Amino acid sequence: MALRTIVRFPNAFLRQKTHEVKIVDKAIRSLVDDMMETMCDVSGAGLAAIQVGALERIFIIDASAAGGEHTDPPRVFINPRFELLSPETDVAEEGCLSFPGIYVPVKRSLSARLRYLDLDGTEQLVEAENFFARALQHEFDHLENRLLFDHAGAIKKQMIKRKLDRMTDEEAMEILRHTGE
Ligand code: NI
Repeated sequence: MALRTIVRFPNAFLRQKTHEVKIVDKAIRSLVDDMMETMCDVSGAGLAAIQVGALERIFIIDASAAGGEHTDPPRVFINPRFELLSPETDVAEEGCLSFPGIYVPVKRSLSARLRYLDLDGTEQLVEAENFFARALQHEFDHLENRLLFDHAGAIKKQMIKRKLDRMTDEEAMEILRHTGE
């Protein structure tokens, strides 16, 4: 396992096209291990592979954010596909490890059904509501290159750019270690 650097906005890598995982092999499991270590280091709620410099369509969500026990390992979602997003929505502030210290209100479906592969390469189906459903939609957005920035209004966008353009790695880690996602 290794800690990876979290790619931060406005790094253009966050807009690169992602691709499906063909085989869930040792290299994929090793990438997921790194993602878990990186996310846990900053107490994040979720992390997509593209945020640590990998273009595979994978994201992880912290177990407690996914409605499980705090001590459970993060949930892993490979090649995720939404089968259902409820028309009922709500708006809540979201953070993102690629946007340290930034929060943007985002409208999301209240419930979701997602098909994905687990770490054994087995197809799984998950039903999620509320915060878990929101986290799934946020992380899935990363795979589609949709970022928190895109949900912000014009003035907030300027503020985000100003703040993140001049943020150093040290400042970013300091903020993330104190707030998490
Ligand atoms: Ni994010």
